[in-house]
Amino acid sequence: MEQITKHLVIMAALTIAQPAITAKDDHQIEYYHMPVFTNICDIVDRRSLVHCYCDSTKPKMATRADCWIFTGGITPEDPIWPNFSSQSELEHLMFNVRSDEALTFIPAKAIVRLERLKHISIQFGTIQSVPPYAFTNSSTLRQISLRSNKISILERHSFAQMMMLSNLSLDDNQITELRRDVFFGLPNLHVLHLSNNNLSLIHEGCFKHLNNLIELKLDLNSISVVTREMFEGLENLSRLNLRSNRLTMIGNLAFSELWGLKDLMLDNNAIEYVSERAFGGLTQLRKLTLSGNKLTAFYEDILEDIRSLIVLDMRDNLLESMSYETIRPVVENGKSASKAVYLDGNPLRCDCRLSWIYLLRNETKDNTLKHALEKISCVSDVEKRPEKPNEIDDNTLADENYGDEYYDKNDDYINKEKLKGKFTKLTDIPLETLPCPKELQAVDESYGHPIQNEIRLKAFSKARCIAPSLILVILVKLI
Ligand SMILES: *[C@@H]1O[C@H](CO)[C@@H](O)[C@H](O)[C@H]1NC(C)=O
Ligand SMILES: *[C@@H]1O[C@H](CO)[C@@H](O)[C@H](O)[C@H]1NC(C)=O
Ligand SMILES: *[C@@H]1O[C@H](CO)[C@@H](O)[C@H](O)[C@H]1NC(C)=O
Ligand SMILES: *[C@@H]1O[C@H](CO)[C@@H](O)[C@H](O)[C@H]1NC(C)=O
Ligand SMILES: *[C@@H]1O[C@H](CO)[C@@H](O)[C@H](O)[C@H]1NC(C)=O
Repeated sequence: MEQITKHLVIMAALTIAQPAITAKDDHQIEYYHMPVFTNICDIVDRRSLVHCYCDSTKPKMATRADCWIFTGGITPEDPIWPNFSSQSELEHLMFNVRSDEALTFIPAKAIVRLERLKHISIQFGTIQSVPPYAFTNSSTLRQISLRSNKISILERHSFAQMMMLSNLSLDDNQITELRRDVFFGLPNLHVLHLSNNNLSLIHEGCFKHLNNLIELKLDLNSISVVTREMFEGLENLSRLNLRSNRLTMIGNLAFSELWGLKDLMLDNNAIEYVSERAFGGLTQLRKLTLSGNKLTAFYEDILEDIRSLIVLDMRDNLLESMSYETIRPVVENGKSASKAVYLDGNPLRCDCRLSWIYLLRNETKDNTLKHALEKISCVSDVEKRPEKPNEIDDNTLADENYGDEYYDKNDDYINKEKLKGKFTKLTDIPLETLPCPKELQAVDESYGHPIQNEIRLKAFSKARCIAPSLILVILVKLI
C-alpha cells in the first residue's frame, strides 16, 4: 500500500514537471506562467503613472533612475512598485512630482526591493506625514532628501534603523513640531536640514540619539525659545544654524550641551537680550554671528570663556557702543591668523569710547579685521541738534540721511528703519576730535522728547560709560 502511494506521488510530480519543461522552449507559455514583468526603466505604456529615465534600460543594469509622476491617483499598493526589483542595482533614485496630489506617500514597496539604494530624493510631492520606518530600515541608504513636499507630521521613528544614513534633508516643508524619537537608530547621521519649515516646538531630547550629527540647520522657522535640553545628545555638533527664527533672548548655558560647536548662527532673529553666560561651555566656538537682531547691550565678559572665537558678527543691531574689553577674546586669540569683528550697521555713537578701533586698525596685521574695522560708521547727530529742544519735530529725525554709502549693496541684514541720525565713517573722523561721554551727557540733558529707542539707548549708554582712565589703560596695553 505504501509503495503504491509513493509511486503515485512520483507520477504526479512528473506530470506537473512536464509542461514546465516544455514551457522553456515556448515563450508564450512562459509568459502565461510567470507574472508580467515590467522593466521600470523601459515603460512603454503611455498610460503608466510613473516614467523613469535611467542610465541603462537593460534589466538589472541601471544605477540611476530619474522618475516622473505627472498625474495623481497612484497608491502605495499600486502594482508598479514591486516592479522596481527589475532594476535591483539602482543606487540613485529620484522622484519628481509634477502635479499636486500626484504622490502623497513614500513608496516603501519600491524602496524595500532596492538593496543597493544609496540616495533617494522625492521633490514637490504632497506627502503630509512620514510614517514609522518609512524607509523600511534600509541598511544601504546614505542620503534622503524630501525637500518641498508639504510634510507637516513626522511620526515616532519616521527616520529609524538606517545604519548608513548620513544626510537627511527636510527643507521647505511645513513641519511645526519635532517630537521625541522621530530620529532613532541613525548612528551615521552627520547632516540634518530642517530649513524653511514652520517649526516652533522642539521637544526636549528630540535629538538625543544623534550623537554623531555635525550640522543642524533650523533656519527660517518660528522657533522662539532655545533651551539646553533641546540640544541634549548633540555632542559632536559643529554647525548650528538658527537664523531667521523668532528668538528674543538667549538664556544662560543654552548651548552648553554642544561641546564641539564651532559655528553658531543666530542672525535675523529678534534677540534683545543675551544672558551673561549664554555661551558658557562653547569652548571650541570659532564663529558667532548675531547680525540683524535688536541687541542694545552686550555683557563685557560674555565672550571671556570662548577662547577659540575668531569671527564675531554683530552687524545691524542697536548697539550704541562696544568696548574693547568685549571683543578682546577675539582680537587677542593667538590661535588663528585671520580674525574679524563686524560692527557696522549699529547706531554707535561717535565718541571716544570707540577710540580703540583706530588703534586696533593701525596695529593689526590682519587684513580681514582691518577692513571690518574700517567699515564701522557711527552716529554723530548729537552736535547737529537745534538749540531750542522743544521745537524738535520727531519726523525730521526720521527723514535724515542714513549714509547708504557705507553699506554693502549685497548685505541682506540692512535694517535702516531702526537707525536714526547721521552716519559717518568712524575712521574718517580725526581721533582728536571725537567727543567724550562726559560732554555728551551734558548735551543729552537738553533734549526734548526722544523717541522710544533713544530712551533705551540712553539708559544703556549711561550704564556703560567707560571712564576715560580705563580707555587709557587699554590703549597703553595695545601699544
Ligand atoms: C508589475 O508587476 C506586477 C506583479 O508583481 C504586475 O501585476 C503588474 O502588472 C506589473 N506592471 C505594472 C505596470 O504595474
Ligand atoms: C523596521 O524595524 C522595526 C523595529 O526594529 C520593525 O518593527 C519594523 O517592522 C521594521 N520594518 C521593516 C519594513 O523591516
Ligand atoms: C552630505 O553631507 C556631507 C558632509 O557629511 C556633505 O559634504 C555633502 O555635501 C552632503 N551632501 C548633500 C547632498 O547634502
Ligand atoms: C507655515 O508657514 C507658511 C509660510 O512659511 C504659512 O503660509 C503657513 O500658513 C504656515 N502653516 C502653519 C500650519 O502654520
Ligand atoms: C563624536 O564624539 C565622540 C566623543 O564624544 C568621538 O569619539 C567621535 O569620534 C565623534 N564622532 C565624530 C563623527 O566626530
